[in-house]
Amino acid sequence: MKTLLTTILLSLTVILPSKAANHEVPLIQNVQAYESLSLNGEWNYIIDVQEEGYYDYRMNPTRWGFFQNAKPQRPEDLIEYDFDKSPTMHIPGDWNTQDERLFFYEGTVWFKKNFQVKKEENVRHLLYFGAANYDCRVWVNTKEAGHHIGGFTPFNYDVTDLLKEGENVVIVKVDNKRHAEDVPTQIFDWWNYGGITRDVRLVKVEPVYLEDYSLQLQKADTKAKVRQIDFSARMNKKEAGHKVVVFIPELKLEQQLTTDAEGKVSGTLKVSTKKLALWSPETPKRYRVKISLDTSTINDEIGFRTIETRDKQILLNGQPIFLKGISIHNEKPNGGGRANSAEDARTLLGWAKELGCNFVRLAHYPHHEEMVREAEKMGILVWSEIPVYWTIAWKNPKTYENARNQLRDMIARDHNRANIIIWSIANETPHSPERDAFLGNLAQYARSLDNTRLISMAMEVTGASNYVNRLNDNMNQYVDVVSFNQYIGWYRDVNDAPKMKWEIPYNKPVIVSEFGGGAKYGYHGAKNQRWTEEFQENLYRENIAMLEKIDGLSGTTPWILKDFRSPRRVLPDVQDYYNRKGLYSDKGEKKKAFYVLKQWYENK
Ligand code: GCU
Repeated sequence: MKTLLTTILLSLTVILPSKAANHEVPLIQNVQAYESLSLNGEWNYIIDVQEEGYYDYRMNPTRWGFFQNAKPQRPEDLIEYDFDKSPTMHIPGDWNTQDERLFFYEGTVWFKKNFQVKKEENVRHLLYFGAANYDCRVWVNTKEAGHHIGGFTPFNYDVTDLLKEGENVVIVKVDNKRHAEDVPTQIFDWWNYGGITRDVRLVKVEPVYLEDYSLQLQKADTKAKVRQIDFSARMNKKEAGHKVVVFIPELKLEQQLTTDAEGKVSGTLKVSTKKLALWSPETPKRYRVKISLDTSTINDEIGFRTIETRDKQILLNGQPIFLKGISIHNEKPNGGGRANSAEDARTLLGWAKELGCNFVRLAHYPHHEEMVREAEKMGILVWSEIPVYWTIAWKNPKTYENARNQLRDMIARDHNRANIIIWSIANETPHSPERDAFLGNLAQYARSLDNTRLISMAMEVTGASNYVNRLNDNMNQYVDVVSFNQYIGWYRDVNDAPKMKWEIPYNKPVIVSEFGGGAKYGYHGAKNQRWTEEFQENLYRENIAMLEKIDGLSGTTPWILKDFRSPRRVLPDVQDYYNRKGLYSDKGEKKKAFYVLKQWYENK
């Protein structure tokens, strides 16, 4: 074991640990618009079950961790790891489907990537991660850039001062172990894919850049001759006097503004109603928008639409709409692990389109950005959600802060996407005063960040007797749309759907955010035989007839588009670690129930 000298040295290091640096800066809006070096590709990785690379044998963070990327300098030097001799995997990508030893693995894996940088005057560099599940620490050239919690939202660090001319090294420690105080908490019905699951970029920005901007069409009555588009922007610096210009060439709309002492601008653009093509599923019109700050300009593609409720109706552009939806997990088809590309998005959304959908519930966490952007191009409306799922540690302030940050970042990334109409703050949460306070605060926080969209959450049926199902949830006061999950025909009351009645005492639109049942593709038999396609087909028929009777039903997102991996589904030869409630198998094979829903939506 270590000599007296190293023990003294170690105790010194313990006494004098370096303060964890944090180079995190607010999320940059529309990162795709900036020149960047993609760090996607092959990264070396080290599986570190006992976090030998981070803690010493007294479980204190050590200075000699793997982030040092150390190499023996002298023959007698003892370095017990070597990234360059370690295997590689593709980033973005989960580790579970790239190394069979890691299929069930939950723990720490280290990643290393070398990259070249040409340092330039007046250029700053942001290291941007689309997402990393779950607990992520980042070092650049052995200096810590920051520590991020949460597996489904982006984060970025200003690493300008950590970079050097030429060869640079980024090292990332990712740990996806589950804990009660996490968000999501310890148990959830999806695969806990670990790793750097979305794009990594080194983004070039000017010393002052637009951290965020927003373009939103104001609501107006349908007879309005002129429409108003609200524009606002915020720089990364609180400086007055910077020129900001927003220009929409196709509408010949331009406005010049000057930042105030907060580095902010806001204004309103006026356009005649006749000239403005509104974004809708039928016509997913997006306008090229040019936004410049002083001498630099970025481009975006933005659609304009309004979304609101009136009593039990959801109004898109002032017109009632029925949301023909389906729930989706962010998982590649064909057993491919976490989805992370535009192609993955087009495949999954294409399947939803085939079903006749104009709406998708992206469950239970923010999906990769391309999923939202491709849906916007394809005319598919979106419900986006944070993983406040089942029984969260409601009393733990750290858990609340974590959920709040994920909500902030979900909205920060996608608030300019016209197709997102609902922010969902939770799924199937148990009633309690602590839960109500937690979710009530989250709902108000979401509204403070974005009051142009609808707030909802997936509630549960609270009482059912004599075929009467009741919804009684204190959270009704905080949401614009009352949504709930129900599994009549699967988890309860098989074949009783036709007899069911519903009591939903709220004058708000209703979305049935989950219903459905499992079936193994290709397994056929009697309609009362579990797991057959006929059982699922019959369940859909009966549920749809039942749902049609719900007063104020404005949409549904059946559970679920395709079979997806879950560690909670262990029935051999049927589930084999897949939740089989898909209308498609994981390979994209349509089950009989697919046609039942498609037909309903065609007639809706
Ligand atoms: C729940 C939950 C889903 C889950 C589904 C099921 O309602 O929200 O995440 O997968 O039911 O049991 O299949």
